[in-house]
Amino acid sequence: MMLNLVPFVSVDKMMQLVLHLGIERVLIDLAAEIEADFRRWPLFDKTPRIASHSDVGVIELMPTSDGVTYGFKYVNGHPANMKQGLQTVTAFGLLADVATGYPVLLSEMTILTALRTAATSAMAAKHLAPKGATTMALIGNGAQAEFQALAFKAICGLTEVRLYDIDPAATAKCARNLAGSGLNVVQCATPEEAILGAQIITTVTADKTNATILTDNMLGAGVHINGVGGDCPGKTELHRDILLRSKIFVEYPAQTRVEGEIQQLDPDHPVTELWQVITGATQGRTSAAEVTLFDSVGFAIEDFAALRYILAKSKATGLYDNLDMIADPDDPRDLYGMILRAAG
Ligand SMILES: NC(=O)c1ccc[n+]([C@@H]2O[C@H](COP(=O)([O-])OP(=O)(O)OC[C@H]3O[C@@H](n4cnc5c(N)ncnc54)[C@H](O)[C@@H]3O)[C@@H](O)[C@H]2O)c1
Repeated sequence: MMLNLVPFVSVDKMMQLVLHLGIERVLIDLAAEIEADFRRWPLFDKTPRIASHSDVGVIELMPTSDGVTYGFKYVNGHPANMKQGLQTVTAFGLLADVATGYPVLLSEMTILTALRTAATSAMAAKHLAPKGATTMALIGNGAQAEFQALAFKAICGLTEVRLYDIDPAATAKCARNLAGSGLNVVQCATPEEAILGAQIITTVTADKTNATILTDNMLGAGVHINGVGGDCPGKTELHRDILLRSKIFVEYPAQTRVEGEIQQLDPDHPVTELWQVITGATQGRTSAAEVTLFDSVGFAIEDFAALRYILAKSKATGLYDNLDMIADPDDPRDLYGMILRAAG
């Protein structure tokens, strides 16, 4: 019997891959891959992710296809997990060959989600943030935070990051991890202090509530907000008044209207699709004074691009294992006979 083995990128292999390539290289490459797939947005199969909600969190499936390759991610969001020593977000994903339906990659995606979310944020900011932005407030200093800071450094030329979290231990952890990154890291005691002098504000907190991490009176003209943490019905970070005075950019409107900050607005409130800014079909920021908001929730095409990148890099480096996960008898109709033969 010939085994049909599926390349599997474990957590260990993913970490080795990131260390081998260098995290900033990975973030730059991922941003380029995601941007390339946003350019060919219309040809993808698109659907809002399929969410299963509970009182404490959500489990979601995120499928898409470009007609040649199919991909999906399994991801959860459980803000209370952290108190039990568990991750808020965990994920894994798969790519398959559309021609046969056979999987071509299974991969961990907890780390990859943090990488792709940060790469997407920085890619969006490259198009939307005010010219010459070098300082970012980073509110929420949990698992995603360092990835966000490093992506903005590598892709947008960030030089200073100003950290704030309701838990000072998270801020201290983040500052420790970013020491030696080349960023000037400032630990702040309040959100107001964090946004002082910042042209970019990233909110990446986790709480299953309509929180107001930022209120309208805190914001000056011309800032770019990268709103990452509000990504579920009933889970937002920004006061509605901020939304009303921002130019709002989204991934896939049908998903973001349910999950993003804009769930607080009328269902027909105007938003701009980021892919159209990238292709040049529509304008991004139109003046230095405009407040821009990337209402990020995370879309399947970002995971698809990230998985394809990991497939190429893991094959090129040998950093993967082979997984015996597809039953593939020599005679395709003799699936049962394969079990009998295994008995010896
Ligand atoms: N948009 C996307 O594509 C995307 C991708 C991944 C994660 N997320 C979301 O990002 C958020 C953060 O994820 P994580 O993995 O870093 O979670 P995490 O639990 O590791 O960290 C969240 C941090 O937010 C802090 N926090 C909570 N409320 C706060 C408040 N009011 N002010 C300041 N800080 C506060 C917590 O103390 C914690 O340190 C989650 O809500 C997650 O669902 C979005």
